[in-house]
Amino acid sequence: MKITVCKDEQEFDVTAAWRIIGQMLHKPDSVIGLSTGQTTKNMHAIVSDIFRQYPFDTGRVTLFNVDELTNLPRSYAGCCYTMIAEQIARPLNIPDERFLMPRTLCDDFEAECRNFQQALEARGGIDLQMLGLGYNGHIGINQPGTPFGSETWVSPMDPIFEARVRKETGVPPDYPLGGLTLGIRTIMHARHIILIAKGAHKAEMVRQMLLGPVTEEIPASVLQLHPNCEFLLDADAASLL
Ligand code: GLP
Repeated sequence: MKITVCKDEQEFDVTAAWRIIGQMLHKPDSVIGLSTGQTTKNMHAIVSDIFRQYPFDTGRVTLFNVDELTNLPRSYAGCCYTMIAEQIARPLNIPDERFLMPRTLCDDFEAECRNFQQALEARGGIDLQMLGLGYNGHIGINQPGTPFGSETWVSPMDPIFEARVRKETGVPPDYPLGGLTLGIRTIMHARHIILIAKGAHKAEMVRQMLLGPVTEEIPASVLQLHPNCEFLLDADAASLL
């Protein structure tokens, strides 16, 4: 396990941004998985700033997001497609055919999951997967209890998470939501993973993820077993280690 602790939030955001830029420069045809949320917002903005100042060829980079909400039109600001498109894919001129995202509206999500995973495999698999840390230890939308052997699937929504999404997106209460996510097994097949967490509110979960047992009750704890995973933290998130 590699653990990197940044002295503050600013150093954390910049360090995380350079990890993504570094991957693209090191391997111009990289397949890079991102994640959405408060943790990644600044980081994506910094990636875009660096690219504006020091442009390079991104024509062979493939970007995708680790998860996506189902049954929301992409026009909702809370859709991962929309967030990643605005925050990073468009600013970096990633070609549309190399911005891989599952559809949010379709009749057969099982097939959509299979197709999404196969499309990533067809591009050679995931070179780098950036992961946020959920408040209860979830990664992607794999909530506690998800089998470690899971492949890309549609996870039932955790009630707290669902309430947050509904609040952020304004979806009516009777509109069914789901979380299409890379499974734990799919995530573990990435060649390189960077788990990023910042802020004192993540400290207890960071402690459980790194120092607790590897258990399906804390999905992120499985990352202890990955041969090439970096845990990138700010001092607040690392304060209980
Ligand atoms: C959501 C996303 C995850 C993300 C997590 C952390 O659950 N589906 O991919 O890692 O939020 O969010 P935040 O960075 O806002 O704490």
